[in-house]
Amino acid sequence: EQIEKGGYEHFMLKEIYEQPQAIRDTFRGRMRVKEGIIKMAGVDDHIDKFINAKRLVILACGTSWHAGLVAEYIIEELVRIPVEVEYASEFRYRNPVIEKGDIVIAISQSGETADTMAAMKLAKEQGAFVFGVCNVVGSSISREAHAGAYTHAGPEIGVASTKAFTTQITVLTLLGLKIAKAKGKISTSDFHMHLEELNLVPQKVEEALQSNEQAKKIAEVYKDAANFLYLGRGFNFPVALEGALKLKEISYIHAEGYPAAEMKHGPIALIDEQMPVVVIATRRGHYDKIVSNIQEIKSRKGKIIGIVTKGDVTVRDLADYVIEVPEIMDSMSPLLTTIPLQLLSYHIAVMLGKNVDQPRNLAKSVTVE
Ligand code: G6P
Repeated sequence: EQIEKGGYEHFMLKEIYEQPQAIRDTFRGRMRVKEGIIKMAGVDDHIDKFINAKRLVILACGTSWHAGLVAEYIIEELVRIPVEVEYASEFRYRNPVIEKGDIVIAISQSGETADTMAAMKLAKEQGAFVFGVCNVVGSSISREAHAGAYTHAGPEIGVASTKAFTTQITVLTLLGLKIAKAKGKISTSDFHMHLEELNLVPQKVEEALQSNEQAKKIAEVYKDAANFLYLGRGFNFPVALEGALKLKEISYIHAEGYPAAEMKHGPIALIDEQMPVVVIATRRGHYDKIVSNIQEIKSRKGKIIGIVTKGDVTVRDLADYVIEVPEIMDSMSPLLTTIPLQLLSYHIAVMLGKNVDQPRNLAKSVTVE
């Protein structure tokens, strides 16, 4: 097992560090930057369906559901068609509306999650075209889907999902770009700009990983907190949910993710000097709004951990601690802002002596209901 961990103390840490390569492997061969094309056989073979789709319905559970939420923001922005994201476990039991021309996307790292499998079968029975986004080649969901695209994250052993999440976002970004191009919703120059930006992501993730020491330092300060709040807006709202989930899963600290502006409708009541609040406050994403959310937290004495763009000064002045990530276009920022949140939860769990790779009560893949 020590050999499999490749010198890392835990699989989770190894997998966090594998993300630059995993993301590269996921777009390699598909994204041809110079030619300005994206090749995805599972989409190319059914391109008319994607062009004519009235709506996309994304089904998933857990971290994959969070990747689905990021994809909703990205695809609606690029393609201008409605995208709905549903917990597979809800969808399968609520007589959902599936109409002709809907495309269902099932996202699953393992490809074996029972609820996701049942939900996609139901959607299929109702006539939907089902596209699978799985990591495990030949898995049940990948076989049941009409078409699909694999993430190329490699085996993920740690129960808390890390590289599966970022590679799912990568595949779904490629999908969004591809449909947008096929529908003429994006200009050639804009398309090129996106490809070039995506091409730089592995290198920027590498840079984001340099926040490890800072994440460790912050973990040391807040590891004994009873609760954590995670806030983000726009593309980074799902990242706040995912950050909170990571902390819950492996450290057993109660954590909630919230859209930052929704804080005033409830969570703000919880804020006092005991409450660490992780705020994703990157420069391009509703920055001024986030800064005023941070001020609201500060005036209630909450402890602020800001995830900021490199060189940021405004949030740095307000926050107790910041972690920097490189500058990137807003829609791709989840691929970077997720990294320090993974590291933060990892270090807290290690410091608390928890079983990071196999947290209590959780399974890597939930194949029964
Ligand atoms: C379990 C795992 C999570 C995962 C979820 C969905 O709860 O512990 O890490 O996100 O299942 O799994 P899937 O394989 O369908 O992505």
